[in-house]
Amino acid sequence: MKIINTCFLISLIVLLTTASLALAEKAKQLTDIVGKKEFVTYCGSCHGSDGKGDGPIVDFLERKPPSLTQLSKNNNGTFPFERIWGVFDGTYIFAEHGTSEMPIWGYRFVQEAQQKHESDIATKAKAKALDIVLYLQVIQE
Ligand code: HEC
Repeated sequence: MKIINTCFLISLIVLLTTASLALAEKAKQLTDIVGKKEFVTYCGSCHGSDGKGDGPIVDFLERKPPSLTQLSKNNNGTFPFERIWGVFDGTYIFAEHGTSEMPIWGYRFVQEAQQKHESDIATKAKAKALDIVLYLQVIQE
């Protein structure tokens, strides 16, 4: 009886682990698709579609956009979620020069939603920002 129970427990654990891994994989795929689309639209021209800093307009910029695939590596292996969120709410300070060639993205998203007369503007702007931050998390090397 005990052996049967143990077997049952082990199979349950295996099943649950497989299911949660499958879910995590699905979530990652979704982030890859949705986040990448937003990233390419808003950030790709400078940071490149893979975030490596080689977008098509870099030659026209005074400052070169950094690769965004090294954010975790440069932060002792942890993705700096709050700091990157600051790119959207305007609290990210570019230490070296104080100003940025980048707009405050969250503000831009709100303006866009207003122009399209969308409802629930703040939530949509936040969702878009979150999609992009999660995508950045996925492309860390
Ligand atoms: C017009 C060009 C341009 C666009 C578009 C752009 N960036 Fe940037 N980004 C830069 C530049 C240039 C820098 C380097 C800092 C500076 O000089 O402003 C930078 C720096 C950053 C940094 C800091 C990296 C670090 O190592 O700390 C992050 C994060 C970032 N950008 C995210 C984004 C995201 C997310 C988007 C899209 C929503 C975006 N950028 C769109 C030009 C751009």
